[in-house]
Amino acid sequence: MEIISSNTATQQAIALEDKYGAHNYHPLPVVLTRGQGIYVWDVEGRRYADFLSAYSAVSQGHCHPRIIDAMIQQAQRLTLTSRAFYTDLLGQCEKYICDYFGFDKVLMMNSGAEGGETALKLTRKWAYKVKGIPQNEAKTVYAKGNFWGRTMAAISSSTDPSSTNDYGPLLPGYLLVPYNDLAALENVFQKDATIAGFMVEPIQGEAGVLVPDEGYLRGVRELCTKYNVLFIADEVQTGIGRTGRRLACDHEDVKPDILILGKSLSGGTMPVSAVLASDEIMLTIKPGEHGSTYGGNPLACAVTMAALQVTQDEQLAENAEAMGQVFRARMTALAQKTSFVKLVRGKGLLNAIVIDSLPAYGDETAWELCLRFKDAGLLCKPTQGDKIRFAPPLVITEEQMHEACDLIEATVLAFVSEN
Ligand SMILES: Cc1ncc(COP(=O)(O)O)c(C=O)c1O
Repeated sequence: MEIISSNTATQQAIALEDKYGAHNYHPLPVVLTRGQGIYVWDVEGRRYADFLSAYSAVSQGHCHPRIIDAMIQQAQRLTLTSRAFYTDLLGQCEKYICDYFGFDKVLMMNSGAEGGETALKLTRKWAYKVKGIPQNEAKTVYAKGNFWGRTMAAISSSTDPSSTNDYGPLLPGYLLVPYNDLAALENVFQKDATIAGFMVEPIQGEAGVLVPDEGYLRGVRELCTKYNVLFIADEVQTGIGRTGRRLACDHEDVKPDILILGKSLSGGTMPVSAVLASDEIMLTIKPGEHGSTYGGNPLACAVTMAALQVTQDEQLAENAEAMGQVFRARMTALAQKTSFVKLVRGKGLLNAIVIDSLPAYGDETAWELCLRFKDAGLLCKPTQGDKIRFAPPLVITEEQMHEACDLIEATVLAFVSEN
């Protein structure tokens, strides 16, 4: 696309990305420039309700004043030292996170994928140093449909060919089981004494918001304990209030051995992830054996403490629970009006609808519908073809939620009647 031929600000920005950026995403054609609370504005001045929240990272709402204030104040003092030196904030932040989630220790990294990598490295260290698995034989188990990022370690557990095609060879030592299947999990655990860990999302987000049966997480906990396998909960998307509890694991009162957090840990301001574990697990990694230049930097510490404090003070988990119920009730009512909406599922404010495909659009039906939502003033994205995920910031009010549901309903009914 030629930049010269573009006229609107939207077209110009899209043309620039197209020309100079890698084509590794397929964004909706909207160019955003500002955000506040649940809303974002495009370069033409149009306002949208953000029902993606940067894949659940902006839970506290765009540009939350307290988080931004903490960020600005810290940015003016000290932003990065690397871990070559101590800082006055890292210990404070580590204590804050450990107290908040009830773990002995935390290791801070940047992205969610790095959090997953850290969990894998901890699991392998623990396998050799504590469990006594022979060197280079430790295995980790993952659930089919998992998603934990784009690094080589992360895609090595992927069952989505578009994540792995032409990227081989993948990492060895990985096993896959069906999600939400305790019998299959026990079967693998029974057969192989070199299994060190099972990494699982309490709700599979990218797979289309797959909510496992009640009791699944409790069952995972029991099996992991029984077979001396680490239960690694990937709560990068589900944690910090998103599903209506502090952690999605809290729905079943289970505590994983390793907890991975990311995304909204920094309130959508910068990449921050954290891996929490007991002393026994965390202290298997010695100085010089793992780290990251930016991991645990003072700026990250300041925004993390502010973001977690906001989550607690504004009772965002409780609001997610209540607003999630409103959303699912409204979508269930919509499903009764049109069979085009086949299923509504989710917990708290991590929800999805499964839709039928329309002959006019086939596999592109969900994409087309998201374009209509955009035109009507609401942003969301399809996942896995026929599913649309709805994950607004947790600060959404009941009035805003009804307004958004009115928009979704009107758009869906118009879309169906046109086609
Ligand atoms: C459950 C889960 N884990 C890990 C990640 C990876 O996080 P990041 O994109 O920050 O690397 C994601 C991202 O969507 C995720 O949903």
